[in-house]
Amino acid sequence: MNAPSQLHAHLTGSISRHCLHQIWTHKTANGSPLDLEDPLIAIPHGRVDYDIKTFFPLFSSYIYKLCNDVDSIKYSTRAVLDDFQKDGVVYLELRTTPRSIPQQGLSKDDYVKTVLAILQAHNENPSNTMKTFLILSVDRRNTVAEAEEVVDLSIKYRSAGVVGVDLCGNPAVGDVRIFTPVFARAKTAGLNITLHFAEIQESGTDQELDTLLSWDPDRLGHVIHVSDAFRARIESQHIGVELCLSCNVHAKMITGSFPDHHFGTWRHSSVPVALSTDDVGVFCSPLSQEYHLAATHFGLDRKQTLDLSERAADCIFTGEEQRARLRRIFSEWHE
Ligand code: IMP
Ligand code: ZN
Repeated sequence: MNAPSQLHAHLTGSISRHCLHQIWTHKTANGSPLDLEDPLIAIPHGRVDYDIKTFFPLFSSYIYKLCNDVDSIKYSTRAVLDDFQKDGVVYLELRTTPRSIPQQGLSKDDYVKTVLAILQAHNENPSNTMKTFLILSVDRRNTVAEAEEVVDLSIKYRSAGVVGVDLCGNPAVGDVRIFTPVFARAKTAGLNITLHFAEIQESGTDQELDTLLSWDPDRLGHVIHVSDAFRARIESQHIGVELCLSCNVHAKMITGSFPDHHFGTWRHSSVPVALSTDDVGVFCSPLSQEYHLAATHFGLDRKQTLDLSERAADCIFTGEEQRARLRRIFSEWHE
């Protein structure tokens, strides 16, 4: 199944278990003092039923502790890009939360520079068909000062491939209102904005959704617990929606299964719809599989599936040059 544009993918959540295992094996063989079990035991193959309670600790108590130096960040970032490219993705907007690793003397700036260097090397390799750009994430647990730093880094590294700012993290925590001035500054600086939106009931209150829409976002992720009134506002503001079927089903963020997913509603709307994987390392469904699931459960024929992938290109953050490249690729697929 052709799956050209991947617009909602978290870097650390996209690292495969196989790659985590390789990093663990390498570190263990080199005698690194790791107090972590083998990823294949900690995150067993075939386990995808991570929910809102078990999902976030995977990062804080395991993956961040394993990928905690420049070498493992470089290695895993390369592996993530290779995996997306092998799946047929030709345009990727990868997102990541800048993190410092003080015990390695690594600042958030170093982290972003490290990831960008891998993206740049990938993009400059003429044998790679996928082009990749970066979105920096503010975590809902961040202080205002930390969120300001994310915007500072996004502005600083714009010319090196940062195209937008995201709001992510555990939707059960934090008060998004504190970030209003931060996202206003990002917008004024000309950065695109994407926000995790109404992922769970508690983060789908009118007050939170009003606040998030007041930031004038360009895209919204998940968009699950929204009333008809908010759906109408999203349509009237023509905001692109990033929908993640497997993640929402496996994490039980929606009631029911694939046929009940709100993709069934949004596909009939006028806004750009970008099927995405969110965290393919955790939920194990690559983008091609997500398109296949949409086609299977919503009865899309080949033309409708191709149209869907073209529709996602309407809300990419890079602009006309990449859109034209995608149009050329689409026209080949239609032949
Ligand atoms: P990173 O930003 O590259 O480190 O990717 C992992 C981080 O992305 C996690 O620690 C979460 O904060 C965030 N994340 C991944 N998936 C989700 C999601 O579905 N909702 C909100 N945040 C998420
Ligand atoms: Zn996400």
